[in-house]
Amino acid sequence: MKSIKDVNFKGRKVLLRVDFNVPMDDNKRITDDTRMRESLPTINKLLADGAAIIIMAHFGRPKKGGFEPELTLEPVAKYLETLINRPVLFTQSLLGEGKVEDMAKNLKDGEVMLLENIRFYPEETKGGVELAEQLAKLGDCYINDAFGAAHREHSSTAVIARFFPNDKYFGFLMENEVRNLEKLMQNPPRPFTAIIGGSKVSSKIGILENLIDKVDNMIIIGGMRYTFTKALGGKIGNSICEDDKMDLAIELMKKMDDHGVKYYLPVDSVIGDKFGNDANTQIVPSGEVPDGWESMDCGPESCKAIRDIIMNSKTILWNGPAGVFELSTFAKGTNEIALSVADACKKGCFAAVGGGDSVAAVKQMGLADQMSYVSTGGGAMLEYLEGKVLPGIKAIQD
Ligand code: 3PG
Repeated sequence: MKSIKDVNFKGRKVLLRVDFNVPMDDNKRITDDTRMRESLPTINKLLADGAAIIIMAHFGRPKKGGFEPELTLEPVAKYLETLINRPVLFTQSLLGEGKVEDMAKNLKDGEVMLLENIRFYPEETKGGVELAEQLAKLGDCYINDAFGAAHREHSSTAVIARFFPNDKYFGFLMENEVRNLEKLMQNPPRPFTAIIGGSKVSSKIGILENLIDKVDNMIIIGGMRYTFTKALGGKIGNSICEDDKMDLAIELMKKMDDHGVKYYLPVDSVIGDKFGNDANTQIVPSGEVPDGWESMDCGPESCKAIRDIIMNSKTILWNGPAGVFELSTFAKGTNEIALSVADACKKGCFAAVGGGDSVAAVKQMGLADQMSYVSTGGGAMLEYLEGKVLPGIKAIQD
């Protein structure tokens, strides 16, 4: 498959799928523009070549079918203008009304157009072929730079590629994500440590199972660890737990033993008597949480042990925070992991961070640029690490 780096798109009308599903506040101001910035190398390369760009993107999960004012991409179009320093043509009209088709037809080299929220077409999420064909007719080649939506087999993320069998490419963002994820999954330098957190074991079963025969160390943190602790006979007080997943936790620990994976569960915990920054706190052994108290972070002994594992690793995958890091009282464990991973990177370790919360944590700490790689994909990265084939990637590789 050709990289866009080796292709000159001068005079071409490029259909570019991006993931501009960015967080916005109530005033429609973008609060984190990372995904947009990460697509700039692709957009700027196409502009430097002298291409006309028709950008396709989704925003939120429209339900009604058709235009929904609160989910318009208009604020994104305006913001993109400031990033690329040129106008972004935009209309709230949808395909079939004539206006979009005319704008696309008249788009000149060096001009950029953003289509309205592609999920306003109900066919999009069903992977409708007719919609894909309608979109394909607007341009003459297809680039997918939407890693965050690569796990969706939608008209604009996957199906459309069929109409460009010899003219479909990954954008730079997508190429970078795929290259880094492949690096993790194929012959990573060892020791390879996975740090997996988050609130529920059930949402991480796939990733835990898929990583068992790949990693040397598995550090299990976050709310999901209490299911393991309880399954081992520990007292977890009011800590979050999925009782119906305790057998699975035992099974996973057995599998890790069988594969020689060293797994680590935090030995001490910061517990609170309520969910808030003003909670009373104590540090206790992880399996001795009194009733009425909830464990919400790793304790100091655990942070030290986790740091030792991290500093002795050559490859790290971090997905999911250590505790309730959005409350400063319980953010220490997550922050210390972020600092340790950054320090390991300084020593030459390759560390990939993914998943909304852990990415938010490294950004909050101002450490994002010290990680080897921070993924723009939430669900997409998770599914990749679960060993699934992502339709958005496959459509380009086929
Ligand atoms: C995301 O934000 O993870 C992607 O844009 C995909 O969005 P979705 O989960 O609504 O498909």
